[in-house]
Amino acid sequence: MANNLLKGKKGLIFGALDEHSIAWKIAEKAHAEGAEFVLSNSPIALRMKDIYQLAKKTNSQVIAADITEVSELEDLFEETMQILGGKIDFILHSVGMSPNVRKNIPYHELNYDYLEKTLDVSAISLHKVLAVAQRLDAINDWGSVVTLSYIAAQRTFSSYSDMAHAKAMLESIVRQFGYHYGVNKKIRINSISQSPTRTTAGAGVSGFNAFFHYADDMSPLGNATSDSCADVCVTMFSDYTKMITMQNIYNDGGFSSMGISNKLIEKFIDCGCNE
Ligand SMILES: NC(=O)c1ccc[n+]([C@@H]2O[C@H](COP(=O)([O-])OP(=O)(O)OC[C@H]3O[C@@H](n4cnc5c(N)ncnc54)[C@H](O)[C@@H]3O)[C@@H](O)[C@H]2O)c1
Repeated sequence: MANNLLKGKKGLIFGALDEHSIAWKIAEKAHAEGAEFVLSNSPIALRMKDIYQLAKKTNSQVIAADITEVSELEDLFEETMQILGGKIDFILHSVGMSPNVRKNIPYHELNYDYLEKTLDVSAISLHKVLAVAQRLDAINDWGSVVTLSYIAAQRTFSSYSDMAHAKAMLESIVRQFGYHYGVNKKIRINSISQSPTRTTAGAGVSGFNAFFHYADDMSPLGNATSDSCADVCVTMFSDYTKMITMQNIYNDGGFSSMGISNKLIEKFIDCGCNE
C-alpha cells in the first residue's frame, strides 16, 4: 500500500544489521514510499555483509561509520550529501548496544566502563549525529529525525539493566536537541517507543521471550511488529507530521496505558494462582 509519501526525500539510515533489524524494515518501507537514502553501520556489522542485500534491494549505497566517532560521522555526512546530491530530509537512528547486557552482568554490579560504552553507543551517539548534521548544515528545513526507544526509559524492567539509563538519556536528548534544532532550522526530532521485537539487540536481553509474551498478552492490540514501526517511522519522515517534535511516540499496541489484562488474569488463574 505504498503512497509515495516520501517521494523526493533523501535520508540517512543507521542500524540495519540483518533482515530482523527494525531499521531494515524501515529502509524497505522508505524505499517503497519513494525515498532515496544511504545506509550506515559500524565496520564490524558490515563484515556480516547482510546489509549489502538491503542496499541492492533499495538501490542505496553503504558507508561504514562507528556512530560514536565524530570524525567518522563528519566523513559520513559529507559523503552522503555527495552521493545524494545535496542536503538530506530525514535520519533514522536505530542503534543500541550494552556490553553489560551482552555479558549478562547483574544490574547492581554494573561494570562502569561498559556503562559508558552503553551510553555512548545507545544515547550520546544521537547527540553526536545531530551535532555533526547541524554543524555541516546537512538537513533541509523541516527535516525529520527519528530514534528508537523502549518503555524501560519510564519504568523498571528487571533485566533491561543499563539500557534503561541509555533510553532515558536518549529521550532526553530528543527533547533538548529538539528545542535547539527546532529553533535554529525547523528540524523535528522524535523517538518511537517500540514493543519488544525479535531482533539481534532484542534477543540479547535476558528473559526476552518472557518480555515478548508478557507484553503481547498485556497489550489490547498485541505487540507492534517492526513492520508497523516502519509505518509510523515513514509517517514521521513525511510532511504529514511537520508539527510533531520532541515527542516519545508509543508504538506498543496500548501496553504503556495498561495495568493488567484479562489475558494475564486468566493465565494466573489457570496456573492455580488465584488464591
Ligand atoms: N528489539 C526490540 O525489542 C526493541 C524494542 C524497542 C526499541 N528497540 C531499539 O531499536 C533499535 C534497533 O535495534 P534492533 O532491535 O533493530 O536490533 P539490531 O541489533 O538489529 O540493531 C542494532 C544496531 O545497532 C548497531 N550498532 C551497534 N553499535 C554500533 C556502533 N558503534 N556504530 C554504529 N552502529 C552500531 C548494530 O550494528 C545494529 O545494526 C535499538 O535502539 C533498540 O534499543 C528495540
